[in-house]
Amino acid sequence: MAVIAQKCPHIKVTVVDLNEARIAAWNDPDTENIPVYEPGLSTVVAEARGRNLFFSTEVDKAIDEAEMIFISVNTPTKTYGTGKGMAADLKYIELCARQIARVAKDDKIVVEKSTLPVRTAEAVKNILQNTGNGVNYQILSNPEFLAEGTAVEDLHAPDRVLIGGDTTPEGQEALNALVEVYANWVPRERILTTNLWSSELSKLTANAFLAQRVSSINALSELCERTGADVTEVARSIGTDSRIGPKFLKASVGFGGSCFQKDILNLVYIARSYGLKEVADYWEQVIIMNDHQKSRFANNIVKTLYNTVSGKKIAFLGWAFKKDTNDTRESAAIYVADALLNEEAGIAVYDPKVPESQVFFDLDYLGTRSPEKNKQLVTNFTDPYEACKDAHAIAILTEWDEFKTYDWQRIFDNMKKPAFVFDGRSIVDSAALTDIGFKVYTIGK
Ligand SMILES: NC(=O)c1ccc[n+]([C@@H]2O[C@H](COP(=O)([O-])OP(=O)(O)OC[C@H]3O[C@@H](n4cnc5c(N)ncnc54)[C@H](O)[C@@H]3O)[C@@H](O)[C@H]2O)c1
Repeated sequence: MAVIAQKCPHIKVTVVDLNEARIAAWNDPDTENIPVYEPGLSTVVAEARGRNLFFSTEVDKAIDEAEMIFISVNTPTKTYGTGKGMAADLKYIELCARQIARVAKDDKIVVEKSTLPVRTAEAVKNILQNTGNGVNYQILSNPEFLAEGTAVEDLHAPDRVLIGGDTTPEGQEALNALVEVYANWVPRERILTTNLWSSELSKLTANAFLAQRVSSINALSELCERTGADVTEVARSIGTDSRIGPKFLKASVGFGGSCFQKDILNLVYIARSYGLKEVADYWEQVIIMNDHQKSRFANNIVKTLYNTVSGKKIAFLGWAFKKDTNDTRESAAIYVADALLNEEAGIAVYDPKVPESQVFFDLDYLGTRSPEKNKQLVTNFTDPYEACKDAHAIAILTEWDEFKTYDWQRIFDNMKKPAFVFDGRSIVDSAALTDIGFKVYTIGK
């Protein structure tokens, strides 16, 4: 929404949220303090905020004033009832639809921006059209393909924008209204239009394919370790095949983030609910492989440290699920830490953008042990050298660029010996570290 406001000064954009603290942070006079860390985002907000971009908790007022409403609320995996652990929880979507139905007095275009199961638009339409107050609604699907860490760049120059709408003349008119918004900065040939159901399913499919590539190369990484092949070389060789392409072929400790797992589980659930067992099982394997990669990384640390990490200090470099974001949702670090804490390891966390409170929130959320126990075993540091001091091992969980340029000799000198580095993102120069004296484990080598 910030980028739409930046690129369309003639359109007034109001972002509303029930969460007062979050809105207050978006209104912080210093745009460096906005709640999402993304390269370039604070500049975009600084340019548009107060001009045609506003952040507010007055949801009813914003609905009343708007011609077009983007529903962008969270759609987490259900934690209760039918579909628990698989299906998308659509209660926040439904609440939005009901609120729009209650407040709206004139015709609205309602845009699904959240990632939704195929055919959700039907439910939204039903709720909106059964209010009987004479308001006409058009529902569009406009899934978001940005990647965290490069969100602003992705929004400024998207590979494509996808908009789905009804095939009726009214549906097409609404669809064109949204095309005109994006056409302010996106070349028209990159704005794809389709029907509602194809648009909804395309988003789940895109995430499933991306996650599948990560799990595919990760599956091969384990085979590389056993056979003497090098996964980086394998990825380079296959990536030059134009049918395969080089992106998303980096072996790692596993994918995280709020979307991949949730969206695949959702896809699996939908397939299963139509009785498509083989389709569901096929995609579920992407998640199974990802979980395996995280636990195998943790097990390898325990095994290498002479089968016990109890009372040992293990330094975690990185907690965010990827570099250039402060988002930690489903981060591999959380699950690797949890496995090591079960073995009574002491963990020292350093991440350049993630605060201590978030680390404890993530661990406590799992409910594996008491918050007191987590506090006892985990310490957060704002200085990476302090985090690594007296550690038996370092585990690299996020690919932050700064890790590459540390004074590794200094780190080595202050660690317990033998000093181990487990590089879950293949980012440090393993030959240089080995020369210093480290024992280095890199995934897929
Ligand atoms: N994060 C991403 O990179 C990304 C990318 C593409 C798509 N998506 C999709 O976008 C959606 C949102 O993701 P997110 O990461 O921004 O989630 P989020 O949890 O960070 O944000 C959702 C916000 O919605 C607010 N909210 C919930 N119910 C509300 C209501 N009734 N009225 C007003 N505000 C309400 C919450 O307070 C919260 O601040 C999800 O469906 C996700 O799958 C996210």
